[in-house]
Amino acid sequence: MKRIFDTPKDTARGFADHFLKLHKESDMLSIALSGGSTPKILFDLLADEYQDEFDWSRIQLYWGDERCVPPTDEQSNYKMTVDHLISKINIPESNVHRVLGENESEQEAIRYSEEITSNLPAANGLPQFDIMLLGLGGDGHTASIFPHEMELLQDERTCAIGTNPDSGQKRITLTGPIINNAKSICFLATGSGKAEKIDEIFNKRDRYLAYPAAHISPVDGELLWFLDQGANQ
Ligand code: 6PG
Repeated sequence: MKRIFDTPKDTARGFADHFLKLHKESDMLSIALSGGSTPKILFDLLADEYQDEFDWSRIQLYWGDERCVPPTDEQSNYKMTVDHLISKINIPESNVHRVLGENESEQEAIRYSEEITSNLPAANGLPQFDIMLLGLGGDGHTASIFPHEMELLQDERTCAIGTNPDSGQKRITLTGPIINNAKSICFLATGSGKAEKIDEIFNKRDRYLAYPAAHISPVDGELLWFLDQGANQ
């Protein structure tokens, strides 16, 4: 379940190799991307060293969560992904399924749910992503399911509204059942700042059940944690 690497770049490479392996085994692969800062090193690596390894016409990009901001906003996970990956690879525009962060949030949660449901195959009665790329927040959140909104882990909708507890910023997030229904759920976490929460989760210690990331458990897929040495202390 844990794949440990020396450096953040080695960790990104470990995931990139996993991503490429699954891509070669499939005709069309859907991946839900995480946001924040950790994926930047992965996206840069994919753009710089893997872009010719992938047939991007057979990759469908989605987001596991997105801030409710315009696509030009520095806070936008879509903008971050464009800057570090999409602008550098030859992927059809129709394969990029961005959350319309500029839209009214409740309406966008419904629209994005419908986009996912109409494009992805179903398994266990729910849309199924091939890969679910997740980050780990300092408070144990993942996607935009925060500790004060644990009900999103069981929400029956495909997408819902999460709220950053510090900033109050609204986010569109995939809900727990959709995340857990993916074939390959992959956490990518690096740096010593994540080590404590990861240790609590893996050792079922202290307040681990208060962390949404502790409740990510695949229905019938795999759960992998791609960690560098710093995050695995
Ligand atoms: C987001 C992310 C979020 C992120 C964690 C870790 O929109 O912010 O999807 O879940 O993965 O907060 O963020 P860092 O990678 O910046 O530590």
